Amino acid sequence: MATVALGFLSLLIWLLALQDQVYAYGDLVVDTAPTTPRPYVLPNLKGEAVDFGGLIIRTLVSNITSSGALSILSINTGPSPLSIVHSHKQVETFYSIKGSVQVFHNTNQGRELQANDFALLAPGNNHTYRFNDLDFQLTLCMAPGGIEDLFTAAGTPYNSSAPYDPEDQSQLNVTKVLELFPRYGITPAPYNTINLDWTNGTTDDGLATWHVANQTLPNNSVTPYFVSSNRGPKYLQRKTGQVVSLLASGKQTNDKLTVATIATKPGSQPAAVKFDVHQAFQVTEGQLHLEINGEIVTLIFGDLAFIPEGTNFSYWSRVGFTKFAAWSAGSGLADSLIMKGEEWSDAVWPA
Ligand SMILES: *[C@@H]1O[C@H](CO)[C@@H](O)[C@H](O)[C@H]1NC(C)=O
Ligand SMILES: *[C@@H]1O[C@H](CO)[C@@H](O)[C@H](O)[C@H]1NC(C)=O
Ligand SMILES: *[C@@H]1O[C@H](CO)[C@@H](O)[C@H](O)[C@H]1NC(C)=O
Ligand SMILES: *[C@@H]1O[C@H](CO)[C@@H](O)[C@H](O)[C@H]1NC(C)=O
Ligand SMILES: *[C@@H]1O[C@H](CO)[C@@H](O)[C@H](O)[C@H]1NC(C)=O
Ligand SMILES: *[C@@H]1O[C@H](CO)[C@@H](O)[C@H](O)[C@H]1NC(C)=O
Ligand SMILES: *[C@@H]1O[C@H](CO)[C@@H](O)[C@H](O)[C@H]1NC(C)=O
Ligand SMILES: *[C@@H]1O[C@H](CO)[C@@H](O)[C@H](O)[C@H]1NC(C)=O
Repeated sequence: MATVALGFLSLLIWLLALQDQVYAYGDLVVDTAPTTPRPYVLPNLKGEAVDFGGLIIRTLVSNITSSGALSILSINTGPSPLSIVHSHKQVETFYSIKGSVQVFHNTNQGRELQANDFALLAPGNNHTYRFNDLDFQLTLCMAPGGIEDLFTAAGTPYNSSAPYDPEDQSQLNVTKVLELFPRYGITPAPYNTINLDWTNGTTDDGLATWHVANQTLPNNSVTPYFVSSNRGPKYLQRKTGQVVSLLASGKQTNDKLTVATIATKPGSQPAAVKFDVHQAFQVTEGQLHLEINGEIVTLIFGDLAFIPEGTNFSYWSRVGFTKFAAWSAGSGLADSLIMKGEEWSDAVWPA
């Protein structure tokens, strides 16, 4: 009897495990990020969400999904006070997809990130931010992953597709947040001062470049930095009309991450490609088609695709201008386009 019961139990466990891992045709589009590494497309403003003192934080790619490599979260908010100054062990990147935020590095550097602007907060550097816009959306990536658990533990569930709730009165329990910090590799630096003397969206050190001239990436993984829209290093793959704007590579992230944007001209569906790292693409302009396992999905602004290592996929666009941000846990699509491409000083491909 006991043997039969055990047999039944293991069958049940096996079936449950199977249900979690196997997804069928038509299952690519999901409402919340799955908890196993499988391909999916999460539409804009979907995903497990928490209210973290008025910030609405949605999990786009969880630590579990990426096997610990990274977490990708979106933040929607209106104006809010300056957050606490802190540092952490992970590499953190900010990519503003709509509206603006002020980001402060250590005591002396700051930039206002508008749409398409980028910041890399290198491990161990103090930083903070202040949201000023009425409709701001940020895509945050941390490597290694796991930070979403902090927000879940300290925030309250948010059950709405409204970007954020302008009538929200909820307050963070700061004591609780500070208690949780060490578990997530975060060190607060509450007594640090920051430089609030800004002109044209930057502290003095950025006046000559921010939004107005070329910017380079540091040659090490310890320097925090900023790149304004289209002003970083760029590469053209002439044959396919793709322009890659590199925001961070293995050099700046200790081989943890590549972050880039890829703009592409319209064309027909190309052959599939495959990489041995987990990747995520989020559309910021136009319309992107993606085929995975025979299923074709169309993505527009804010929609995110997660593509696990070893997955065959093809991507293409049929509209005039399509652009997406790409994160990979190591060398991925952007690195491969750069390797095969030529250096390029423009944000669009030649006619
Ligand atoms: C993230 O995932 C990795 C690998 O599964 C695990 O070792 C790590 O503890 C996780 N991090 C957190 C904060 O849960
Ligand atoms: C961060 O702030 C702490 C506390 O003020 C300070 O001890 C530390 O040196 C700062 N780190 C950096 C990289 O500036
Ligand atoms: C969340 O919202 C959905 C759709 O409005 C509703 O069906 C569900 O019951 C809500 N869940 C909670 C926990 O409020
Ligand atoms: C805030 O968190 C602390 C520590 O977890 C807890 O002791 C306290 O009761 C919380 N306060 C409120 C108002 O929930
Ligand atoms: C700020 O921007 C304006 C307009 O682009 C420019 O004329 C001005 O010189 C800039 N200020 C500084 C201090 O660079
Ligand atoms: C990094 O190194 C490359 C080549 O060695 C050089 O061209 C580039 O200017 C360096 N960048 C910085 C910010 O020092
Ligand atoms: C991936 O594509 C290659 C050819 O490019 C093919 O040989 C392989 O079977 C494909 N794998 C899957 C899982 O479809
Ligand atoms: C910016 O860099 C490109 C090469 O990537 C170069 O062709 C162009 O002259 C530079 N522009 C300025 C203003 O320095």
